[in-house]
Amino acid sequence: MTEAGAHTKSSQAKGGFYASRLAQPGAVLAPMAGYSDAPLRQLAAEQGALWTVSEMISARGLVLGGDTENLTLGRPFEGESNRVVQLFGAEPEILARAVQKAEAWFSPAAIDLNMGCPVPKIRGKGGACLLQTPDVAFELITAMKAATTLDVSAKIRLGWDTDRSVEVAQGLAAAGVNLITVHGRTSQQRYTGEADWDAIARVAAAVDVPVVGSGDIKSAQTARERLRLGVASVMIGRGAVGNPWLFRALASGLDTYPSAQERARTALRHAELQTRFYDDQTGRLTLRPLRKVLPQYLPDHPELRDDLVQVVTVEDVRRVLAPLLPGVTTTHEHARYAGTRP
Ligand SMILES: Cc1cc2nc3c(=O)[nH]c(=O)nc-3n(C[C@H](O)[C@H](O)[C@H](O)COP(=O)(O)O)c2cc1C
Repeated sequence: MTEAGAHTKSSQAKGGFYASRLAQPGAVLAPMAGYSDAPLRQLAAEQGALWTVSEMISARGLVLGGDTENLTLGRPFEGESNRVVQLFGAEPEILARAVQKAEAWFSPAAIDLNMGCPVPKIRGKGGACLLQTPDVAFELITAMKAATTLDVSAKIRLGWDTDRSVEVAQGLAAAGVNLITVHGRTSQQRYTGEADWDAIARVAAAVDVPVVGSGDIKSAQTARERLRLGVASVMIGRGAVGNPWLFRALASGLDTYPSAQERARTALRHAELQTRFYDDQTGRLTLRPLRKVLPQYLPDHPELRDDLVQVVTVEDVRRVLAPLLPGVTTTHEHARYAGTRP
C-alpha cells in the first residue's frame, strides 16, 4: 500500500467524519450555489441528511479578500453540525491557508475541494478546469491535508469533455483524499443529458476510498437503485429543493410524501429561517432568492405559484399559504383580534 493509501485507511479506521456518517443509512445534500445556504441545510439536516455541503467559497476570497467570518456562504446556522465547507481554487498555498481560515471561522465537519464547477468565470481558478490538469488537483489535496486534521474530500465531474474520472479519482485517493463525490457528467455537458451512473460505479470500484454518486436523483426509489451500484451514498441537489423529506425517506425508510399542509408549513418555516439567518427583519432582500424555491414545495398547487414568486416579506408568504394553513393567522388578523375582547 502506498503511504497515501495507508494514511487514508488509518484516518478511516480512526473513524473520521465521513466514515462515521456513512455508518448509517441516508443521503447527502449537494452543494448548490444560490441554494444550499444555512436555511436549506437546516431543513435537510432536520430530515436526516448524512451531511450537507455549503455553497462553494473562493479560497482566494477567504485568504486575500475582504471576506470575514460573517461571510454568509460559510457561516453555520446556530447549532449546525455535519456541515462540510466547499472551497474552490487552484493554488496549493492559498488552499492550505483557506482551509485553516475556514476551520477557524466556520467550524466545518470536513472540507471539500470543488473540481466540478463549469461556470466560465471560475475557469483558470479551479473548479472543473482542474479535471484538465489533475496533477494540480493532487497537489491541492496534499496541501489541504497537511493544513488540517479534518477529513478532506473532492467533488469531481467525469472529466472536462471526456470521461477520465477513474484516473482522476485514483490520483486523488493516492494524494490522501478521504472521500470522492462524482457528478456523472462532463463539464462540457453542464446539466444537459443524463448523469452517467455506470461511470460513477466504475469509479467506486476503482478506488479504496468511499465514493458518493451525484446526478438526477429525484425520488427515494431512484436513490435506492443507485445505492446498489456500489457507491457509499448518494448526493441529492435539485431534487431536494422543496422536498427535504427525501432525506427522511432514505434515513428512515419512511417514504410518505407529506400533506400539502405540512409542506406549506415547511415552506413558511423556510421563509422564517431565511429572514432570521440573514438578520433582515423586513425580508425585503432575503426572500427574493426563495421565490424560485417556495413553489417547489407545492407542485400540486399551481394556483399559488404566481403569488409565491412575488413574495417580499414573511407576512406575504403567510398570506399566500393561508388557504393551506388553517390556524395560522396573519399579522393583519392578529391586529383585528387584538381589539376584540372575548
Ligand atoms: C444551481 C446549482 C448550483 C450548484 N453549485 C455547486 C457548487 O457550488 N459546488 C458543487 O460542487 N456543485 C454544484 N452544483 C452541482 C450539484 O452539487 C450536483 O452535483 C448536480 O446538480 C447534480 O445533482 P442533482 O441532479 O441532484 O442536482 C450545483 C448545481 C446547481 C443546479
